[in-house]
Amino acid sequence: MNLFDKIQATAAFIREKVTGNPKIGIILGSGLGGLIDLVDIETEILYEDIPNFPVSTVKGHSGHFVSGKLSGVDVILMSGRFHYYEGYGMEVVTFPVRVMKALGVETLILSNAAGGTNPGFAIGDLMILKDHINLFPEHPLRGPNDDRLGTRFPDMGQTYDHQLIEVAKSIAAEKGIIVRSGIYIGLQGPTFETPAEYRWLHTIGGDAVGMSTVPEAIVARHGGMKVFALSVITDIGISDEPVFITHEEVLEAANLAAPKMASLVAALVTRI
Ligand code: HPA
Repeated sequence: MNLFDKIQATAAFIREKVTGNPKIGIILGSGLGGLIDLVDIETEILYEDIPNFPVSTVKGHSGHFVSGKLSGVDVILMSGRFHYYEGYGMEVVTFPVRVMKALGVETLILSNAAGGTNPGFAIGDLMILKDHINLFPEHPLRGPNDDRLGTRFPDMGQTYDHQLIEVAKSIAAEKGIIVRSGIYIGLQGPTFETPAEYRWLHTIGGDAVGMSTVPEAIVARHGGMKVFALSVITDIGISDEPVFITHEEVLEAANLAAPKMASLVAALVTRI
């Protein structure tokens, strides 16, 4: 089956189970699944039960597809995403974004855990993505272009919607949540970076680095969706001392910051 037909088949399966008319899709990153607790869940489907969906392989990335109401607004949520480092091709990594688009989603909210490459950042900070640098070794749009999914050469001048960024900043200010904004660099992982790499990533303009989000944002823009993305800074790579980072620490820091992120996103969906 070609990609377009696969998307349609998966969307048809999910559409039957989804109530309401969700125009907002949310993908939750590592340790950030807590937002689900704020959702009045109407439908919950395990990834393994969804046709054409792969099964996530990483601890802390539980795979659920949820639809329901967040702050009274219909949303679709994915708790757990597919990473390139798991061995999936880019078509698989970004497949859920295509399915959300086919389901009628117009705005995609992405979240992730990321390492700070900006020495002014601290663990637990929230960072709104204002742009990204794509350092993945494979582009998600490589290969023949299906014009039904988007144009061959998509513009990336405003990958992260400026208006949504402004709204999110004002919500954060109202709630007394400190947010940074910055540039996210997407790398394949699965290693965390060497000290030299963290410094280099800062030099080339990065404020944070992570192993997700960029392919999904590109595919969402290809499909004409608006994108908003948020990082939780779970470690700081730039330091005069050697820094040792574990996945457990990343999850722990993400869990601690998750309530701030959840409160911001819960308010944001009411203003889209
Ligand atoms: N580097 C890459 N990905 C990450 C990091 C990091 O330091 N922290 C959380 N995800």
